[in-house]
Amino acid sequence: MATGKRRTSTAYVCGDCGAEFGKWQGQCSECGAWNTLSEVALAARGAATAPARGRGGWTGQSASAVVDLATVADSPEQRVATGIGELDRVLGGGLVAGSVVLVGGDPGIGKSTLLLQMLAGLGGRLKGLYVTGEESLAQVAARGRRLDLSLAGLLSLAETGIEQVAAAIGAQRPDVVVIDSIQTMHVEAVTSAPGSVSQVRESAAWLVRLAKTAGTCVFLVGHVTKEGGIAGPRVLEHMVDAVLYFEGEAGSRYRVLRAFKNRFGAVNELGVFAMLDRGLREVPNPSAIFLSGGDASRPGSAVMVTREGTRPLLVEVQALVDQSPLANPRRVALGLEQNRLAMLLAVLHRHGGIAAYDQDVFVNVVGGIRVQEPAADLPVLLAVLSSFRDRPLPAKLVAFAEIGLAGELRPVPNGEERLREAASHGFVKAIVARANAPRKSPAGMEVVACDSLAQALAALDD
Ligand code: TYD
Ligand code: MG
Repeated sequence: MATGKRRTSTAYVCGDCGAEFGKWQGQCSECGAWNTLSEVALAARGAATAPARGRGGWTGQSASAVVDLATVADSPEQRVATGIGELDRVLGGGLVAGSVVLVGGDPGIGKSTLLLQMLAGLGGRLKGLYVTGEESLAQVAARGRRLDLSLAGLLSLAETGIEQVAAAIGAQRPDVVVIDSIQTMHVEAVTSAPGSVSQVRESAAWLVRLAKTAGTCVFLVGHVTKEGGIAGPRVLEHMVDAVLYFEGEAGSRYRVLRAFKNRFGAVNELGVFAMLDRGLREVPNPSAIFLSGGDASRPGSAVMVTREGTRPLLVEVQALVDQSPLANPRRVALGLEQNRLAMLLAVLHRHGGIAAYDQDVFVNVVGGIRVQEPAADLPVLLAVLSSFRDRPLPAKLVAFAEIGLAGELRPVPNGEERLREAASHGFVKAIVARANAPRKSPAGMEVVACDSLAQALAALDD
């Protein structure tokens, strides 16, 4: 590096949110996490973020120039479909040259499998490079063969030094690179251990620069733990173009890939896969897989129509409400936000006349999917009420509506599309906010339009 002498000062970076501080403190004042700050050498950062400029013919654009924005032509990004439809959907239509995509998820969820399948599927159309820092090449090849992938022409490299990875990318000029995982990579100029916040950040910064200058599409694999304890993908979220999280429930073979951030597509878009013994298979019509199955309706079970990303999904939510022996009864929400549940229970008491303050309340969204939209409010309360009364909801009922603190039902986007999806799966009754009721109900379905929670509860007994 030709910058001469450099200040060797340090900063402290939060491993959870990436906030930077001048001095160490026990708690991150940005995100509130404890003991997540670690030291980052700033001098090394300068070095690490300046990858190999001037390498023959491989530096992309030269000096930047100031231009009149009106004279800049659009360049609609070139998309290349990966051939895995559910992945393309989450990416916003396929791969974009020069983009950096972070794929996060728990260990063992299927990140390596998905990306190896993607590279093999691209073979022949795009040149791929799989960089493994965790498994040996023999292990990667063995997995590929077991999955029956065509590996010919797929380049691979077992390496953890970013300088060497960059050199290989420079020499081979692949179109798509997978780095598995970013936590195993290190930059020589940075002295801290691989996996530390500074190494993860510097390695990623280097790869981001590379992607932009060489026009390579780079996938970074990042492990997250439930506690977020290790220097995880969280510190990278703002550096990359897209963040995809791979989620699933232990014991379920379904996996959901969710776009958490995407400069090139819709966020919250979902891709659904099933993990089989031959790898990940896409589930192109997932609308009904999040129902627990079986026709008999049980107390405590309600079906909602959620719309994550750009398509409606039928999702079952289950509640168990039981007399609590505790002074502070438990409120447990799986797949939903805990605070939202507490708020909904307060609304149920105040506007529905149902007191749950001496009851433990457990709510679970079936299938390991996370539901983030407020359309789940009404079905969650219907499930709670059904368990509380130990009475099943009417058969073939769906519901979706946001609930306000005044007990009012609010409409949610794309109501008609949700109703049509439910009708096509044989549901015969829907409880929705008034503005979501279409002038003409879908064939075979009775749509009950309600203004308030009280009306919705009354509609159950009709
Ligand atoms: P993997 O892709 O290695 O996970 P990650 O890279 O996210 O850590 O997937 C590992 C899990 O997937 C492992 O528990 C075994 C399971 N699996 C299958 O069930 N079928 C398969 O064909 C493969 C390759 C993995
Ligand atoms: Mg892996």
